Amino acid sequence: MDWGMKNRMAQLIQSDGRCCFLPIDHGYFQGPTRKLEKPGETIKPLLPYCDALFVTRGVLRSSIDPNNAKPIILRVSGGTSMVGKDLANEGLTTSMEEAIRLNVAAVGISIFVGTDYEHESLLNLSKLVDEGEKYGIPVMAVTAVGKELEKRDARYLALASRIAAELGARVVKTYWCENFEKVTNGCPVPVVMAGGPRVDTELEVFEFVHDGIQKGAIGVNLGRNIWQNDYPVAMAKALRAIVHENATPKQAQEIYDGVKSRKQ
Ligand code: 5RP
Repeated sequence: MDWGMKNRMAQLIQSDGRCCFLPIDHGYFQGPTRKLEKPGETIKPLLPYCDALFVTRGVLRSSIDPNNAKPIILRVSGGTSMVGKDLANEGLTTSMEEAIRLNVAAVGISIFVGTDYEHESLLNLSKLVDEGEKYGIPVMAVTAVGKELEKRDARYLALASRIAAELGARVVKTYWCENFEKVTNGCPVPVVMAGGPRVDTELEVFEFVHDGIQKGAIGVNLGRNIWQNDYPVAMAKALRAIVHENATPKQAQEIYDGVKSRKQ
């Protein structure tokens, strides 16, 4: 691995081999998502507790202070919306030149395995990897499921994650699922977990993140279950403890309750 690639990977994955990425890219197809209407304000109290931000260039330039930022994973795929025909029909929205200009640590792209646009999205990933490798910029592949949340099972996610790794992604972002070890065991590059839509209790989030880490994930790229929570800092601190300090779900709940009682 060349120095630039190594250095960028080290910015993302901390010295303990783990990472907490904070995604705030949802607006690129969902519009002003609840609690992310003003992304700059949403992230301000959360920055100390994340290792990198996953964000589009528009929100990066308009809402993130370049003097006080975290490593950036730049979302470079899109071109569809919640109200359009097919969320899977994404293209590359942002050039590698732009990624270099923005001094990013990585770029991120969604792939849509099993959809009508599987082929295009996988070729987009491959082209992005070709460009990224040229300049030492790692690619994070997002195994997207669009509106079909039922696709979140080990067989499908293992397939999509492995394909992403085969095409050259340096990191794969996927969903947690039952038998998550099938996903991590079949994927030769680091796997991080997304959260998906908000779940009912904090403990459920702590439990699935803890399970995923035990089964080989190196961290999280978890958004709505943090910043849509009434106590986002409490949530971020508790999840960070699971990822970086091997806290149990019970210990994470205690951290959450402690911070919440101080109303942070
Ligand atoms: C949106 C994304 C998000 O980064 C990803 O889904 C993680 O966020 P959340 O935990 O809210 O699901 O790729 O397309």
